[in-house]
Amino acid sequence: MLNIVIFGAPGSGKGTQSEKLVQRYGLHHVSTGEILREEIASGTDLGNLADAYMSKGELVPDCIVIEMLDGLIRKNSHVKGFIFDGFPRTVPQGEALSRMLSKHGEDVNLVISLEVADEELIDRLLKRGQISGRSDDNRETIEARLQVYYRQTSPLKDFYRERGVLREIMGVGTIDEIFIAIEKEIDRLIT
Ligand code: AP5
Repeated sequence: MLNIVIFGAPGSGKGTQSEKLVQRYGLHHVSTGEILREEIASGTDLGNLADAYMSKGELVPDCIVIEMLDGLIRKNSHVKGFIFDGFPRTVPQGEALSRMLSKHGEDVNLVISLEVADEELIDRLLKRGQISGRSDDNRETIEARLQVYYRQTSPLKDFYRERGVLREIMGVGTIDEIFIAIEKEIDRLIT
């Protein structure tokens, strides 16, 4: 299996690059944000609970997302590998991911961290907010999401750096330029 975490602040391009990675490498894309938005749209109990956090830009509690991921990994243990987009988002989630993968004799092979300055992130998300209908793409919530990223999520970079799997990539430029840089890191690993 090839297990890649695509990591970065809100708006850094995780979803955009994940779609291209799925096409190129045939990996199974897991976006916790997408799964939670589908739950909200379906009006499930999980969705209602998640909405209370997501609309404020806060993280959904670890125990909820970890349980969600555990089921998903078990159900898809036959795939070539995963692209984890938006998960893990805290160190306990990172530890849980390794534990879950280790049950299948696997671990995270590569963490691609997309590096983008805050002004660019805010600009991208405000622009998307004009058409996306996402309840968290407004200035106040974007700023809250960025604070949450620096406080709760960015410590994962050291977590993965210590494990020797972190690669930091400039997330600015055209989508194709960034993808080529990511591809280089993956191809170095698999060839
Ligand atoms: P999630 O859905 O994961 O959102 P996010 O991390 O805030 O990321 P975004 O989807 O906004 O951005 P992205 O990095 O994917 O960039 P994208 O490619 O879309 O999470 C939402 C919420 O769910 C969280 O706040 C939390 O509440 C909850 N949640 C999710 N996972 C959780 C977890 N594990 N634990 C707890 N809670 C969790 O691009 C953004 C925009 O920029 C697009 O318009 C795109 O077209 C554009 N763009 C992309 N690349 C470029 C480029 N190179 N140049 C110019 N524009 C670009």
